[in-house]
Amino acid sequence: MANAQIISKDLPATAEAGQGKSDADPILSFEHISQVYGGTGGTDRFVALDDVSFEVPAGQFIAIVGASGCGKTTLLNMAAGLAEPTGGTVLLSGKTPKSPNYDLGYMFARDSLLPWRSARKNVALPLEARGVPAAKRKARADEMLALVGLAGKEKQFPSQLSQGMRQRVAIARTMASDPSTLLMDEPFAALDARTRLHMQGEFLKIWENDVDENGRTRRTVFLVTHDLQEATVLADRVIVMLPSPGRIATDMLIDLPRPRAHLIDEIIFTERFRELQHELFTQLEGAVSHGASRTD
Ligand SMILES: Nc1ncnc2c1ncn2[C@@H]1O[C@H](COP(=O)(O)OP(=O)(O)OP(=O)(O)O)[C@@H](O)[C@H]1O
Ligand SMILES: [Mg+2]
Repeated sequence: MANAQIISKDLPATAEAGQGKSDADPILSFEHISQVYGGTGGTDRFVALDDVSFEVPAGQFIAIVGASGCGKTTLLNMAAGLAEPTGGTVLLSGKTPKSPNYDLGYMFARDSLLPWRSARKNVALPLEARGVPAAKRKARADEMLALVGLAGKEKQFPSQLSQGMRQRVAIARTMASDPSTLLMDEPFAALDARTRLHMQGEFLKIWENDVDENGRTRRTVFLVTHDLQEATVLADRVIVMLPSPGRIATDMLIDLPRPRAHLIDEIIFTERFRELQHELFTQLEGAVSHGASRTD
C-alpha cells in the first residue's frame, strides 16, 4: 500500500526502508488537498496547496522539506485541526482532525512558551489539560526537562532562558503528555549546531526506543524542517514540496539503518547518505527554480 507508491524511481529501496511498516494503517491521510486564499478568479487569488495527497502509516517518522511558503505549516495545521482545506479530505485516525486533541503533540515553529510560567509549569501544561495530579505533573515535567539537558532550570521563566533553551523546553512540553502523534514545525531551528546535533540524537533515541511488542515504533512523527541533513538523518521518509502552488515534488524512503540514533555521527559520512542528500537537494533546487518561474 502506501509505502509501495512512495519509493523514488531513482533510488533502490531496501528491506530496511520504512522499517517494513507498509502493513501499518495510515494514522494520517491527506487526500487531494487544496488550499486557496482570496476570491475565485480575482487577482488576489492564491493557491497555497494544490492536490496534495499522501498517507502516513502509524509509527512512521516523516519529514517535509520545501521552500518557504510551500504550505508545510498549513499541512501541520490541518493535521492539528487548526485549519480546514478548501478542497479534499484530511483524516487523523480515520476522522476529521479536531482541536484540541490531547493525543497529539504540536510544536510550533516559534516556541510559544507562556512567559508567566516557569519552565516546569510550561512543560506540565499538557498534563494539566489531561487532569494529571500535581505531584505526577511535577515529576514528569522534571524528567522531561532533564532529558533535554535542562535539569536545574525548572524554576526559570522563559525570559531567563536562551532561545535554544526555550526551544528545548518546548520540545519537553511536546513530549510530556506522551502523545501518539507528534507534529513538529522546525523544532531544532533555533539551536546552535552542536546543541542541534545533540537534541536530534536525543529525540531520535526516544522515538526509536519507544516500540510495541512487535518492535515497531509507537509514535508517529510529522516533522517540518528546512534542513535536508536533519530530514535525512532523522526520518524514514522525506517529502520535498514545491512552492506556488504548494505541491509534492518527491516522496522518498530513507533506507538508512535503524535504530540510528547512536550512529548519526557515522551515517552522515556514508556514501548512501551522500547519495540521498544529493537526490533530495536536486529536487529541492528544482523546486526553487521551478517555483520562481510560476505565476499562479
Ligand atoms: N490566511 C492566509 N491568507 C492568505 N495567504 C495565506 C494565509 N495563510 C497562509 N497563506 C499563504 O500560504 C502559503 C503557505 O504558507 P505556510 O505557512 O504553510 O508555508 P510554509 O511552507 O510553512 O513556509 P515557511 O517555511 O516559511 O514556514 C504562503 O504563501 C502563505 O503566504
Ligand atoms: Mg512554516
